[in-house]
Amino acid sequence: MNKIVILTGAGISAESGLGTFRDADGLWARHRIEDVATPEGFARNPGLVQGFYNERRANAADAAPNAAHQALARLQQDWQGDVIIVTQNVDDLHEKGGAQDVLHMHGTLAGALCGNCGHRWPSPATMQVDEPCPACQAPAARPDVVWFGEMPYFMEEIYDHLAEADLFAAIGTSGQVYPAANFVQEAAISGAHTVELNLDPSAVVSNFAETRFGPATRIVPEWVDELLKGQP
Ligand code: APR
Repeated sequence: MNKIVILTGAGISAESGLGTFRDADGLWARHRIEDVATPEGFARNPGLVQGFYNERRANAADAAPNAAHQALARLQQDWQGDVIIVTQNVDDLHEKGGAQDVLHMHGTLAGALCGNCGHRWPSPATMQVDEPCPACQAPAARPDVVWFGEMPYFMEEIYDHLAEADLFAAIGTSGQVYPAANFVQEAAISGAHTVELNLDPSAVVSNFAETRFGPATRIVPEWVDELLKGQP
């Protein structure tokens, strides 16, 4: 049991005050996905989309990592094997909590992408409509976040990790968005033990061999402590 692959979602950052998408007070209760998280929405109203991500970027900048982020960083440091963290989150709380080499499959609020030439650079705290690209000067800057209908990042690398996983854990994700929701089955096919750590059962809870329910700041440190205590 020496390679651990972990998938996280908005639930791991909920107790840091960043909220989630599909809980009652979530982002998708206040914004229409098609308006703020699709290329078509951006083309239709770039000001609305830039404002949506500027607000989220500011919230993330003010947020602190919680005990769950810190526990996963501790697992990476103290586990006698690989611990790969794949996140659907675009905040940087895993990194602020000490995690290394986090794979942000849905991009990051910290990144800017040029819709014209593909150049990437650190995003300004507030991105303006028609912000010029520093490489090609086109007024085509956008958040480097993967929108619905776009290809998530690092997929080949992620599937390679899942194929080698001995243990797969999904933390704080509702299992409603693919391809992430399918990772548990990919890992299970490779013989990995699978565990869901979540506040409520996800849409794919039946695919997990083990489930642990409760707030991430309690159940993730408990789970990490058990894993580390069980090492030879
Ligand atoms: N501790 C643990 N889990 C929690 C907590 C908490 N304190 N609070 C909420 N959760 C759980 C909820 O029960 C839910 O299952 O976190 C999950 C959040 O689900 P979503 O809001 O759907 O977020 P996520 O699964 O990350 O969404 C995936 O959808 O909108 C897109 O790109 C966006 O990356 C996002 C993707």
